[in-house]
Amino acid sequence: MPKKIIINEKIEKFKKVISVSGDKSISIRWVLFASLVNGVSKAKNLLISDDVLAAIESVKKLGIKVKLKKKECRIYGRGFNGYNYKKNITINARNSGTLGRLILGLLVNTKNPIKLIGDKSLSKRDFKRISDPLSKFGAKFKLTKNKNLPLTIYGSKNLNSIYYVEKRGSAQCKTAVMFAGMRTEGSSIIKAKKSRNHTELLCKHLGLPIKVRKLKDFDKIEIKKINKINPINYNIPSDISSSAFFIVLTALSKNSELTIKNVNINDSRVGVITILKKMGVKITLRNKKIYRGEKIADIKVKSSSKIKSIDCPTKLNSNAIDEFLIIFLVAAKAQGISYFKNLAELNQKESPRLKWGAKILKKMGVKTFVTENSIKIIGNPNLEIKRNIEIKDYLKDHRVFMTSVIAALSFGGKWKIHDKDSIRTSFPSFLQIINTLKNGE
Ligand code: S3P
Repeated sequence: MPKKIIINEKIEKFKKVISVSGDKSISIRWVLFASLVNGVSKAKNLLISDDVLAAIESVKKLGIKVKLKKKECRIYGRGFNGYNYKKNITINARNSGTLGRLILGLLVNTKNPIKLIGDKSLSKRDFKRISDPLSKFGAKFKLTKNKNLPLTIYGSKNLNSIYYVEKRGSAQCKTAVMFAGMRTEGSSIIKAKKSRNHTELLCKHLGLPIKVRKLKDFDKIEIKKINKINPINYNIPSDISSSAFFIVLTALSKNSELTIKNVNINDSRVGVITILKKMGVKITLRNKKIYRGEKIADIKVKSSSKIKSIDCPTKLNSNAIDEFLIIFLVAAKAQGISYFKNLAELNQKESPRLKWGAKILKKMGVKTFVTENSIKIIGNPNLEIKRNIEIKDYLKDHRVFMTSVIAALSFGGKWKIHDKDSIRTSFPSFLQIINTLKNGE
């Protein structure tokens, strides 16, 4: 199978109803929670992607049985203290920052040292942000000189509860600390800048001892030691981050209309919808419901003939953190200059995404002013690409690949985009869905 994809024509108009795969954040959290319960948990529509498979492999290494069939995944938990901490365990988080960081929170009580490794991209990412707070609980870490993977975690029998201030708006840091708090006597308190709250919602759904007080920019979370979790059956809703590629494709295509079914529209994830609506994209939410504490809806989007520029409010950054690359494409077609700021965290992702956003736009002939934490994009409502563009050496960042495909289909030009396997980490069916849209009405 060729590892690159060539695209040399724009997509024709389409009118379709689609479903995208299960939410990645919820899928990984479900695997980790289910590995801690007393008994069997079942999930439907679990995202079957490399990141989630890595989560399954990890809990298997800790002695948990998992049965994965096409339609259903079953995890046979051995209780909250049921991990088998054998000697010489190595956990491979592959490309997944979420898995690599979250699981460390659960390993703070390991009896034997555990090694955590990852792929080339994950091995460049910051793990000090996790080892620092988890060290306060009493776990010890050996990291590389640059505070990256591979690392080794040494657990402790005598964990201390902690007070932790999470300032980045990182749900991964918040969750890792919550997990460690669940293993620790007493109450741990986390003052966390607002970020996705799937862990809190799952805890509440499971009746676990957690209190969340919502303040203006922060949430104050109190979490106590847990002894038992009941099985969790979960029908995973579709991923807003995967949906975002098709929302933007529709907005940028002529005379098109798309409905995406059963998408998780948790308030802490819908920054992309808020931002695109402010830019004039026509999006409506239908059939809203609540499932396991999570908001879900069908998303309907139509082509947008007029796109407005935006001075993007920074309070939306964390809610749209995985969608900025694709939002930048909309800004490229806006009337006026768009400004996105305080986005240093974007360079901490699978690739330095702020840099990659600017790189893709530059290759498209779009003018940008980029700094370490901001980007100004000079929009052009008549943007048409005529040139040859090649996208490669981007650390196989799935979102760089998918953004490039959407840019090619929306603006034209002749694109050669390498490493199409990158979509396996979060959205293996991405290109199949593109093909169904190519088949028009
Ligand atoms: C995630 C949190 C975010 C996000 C990532 C998934 C999660 O990362 O970018 O794709 O599931 O907790 P940060 O916590 O680093 O912001």
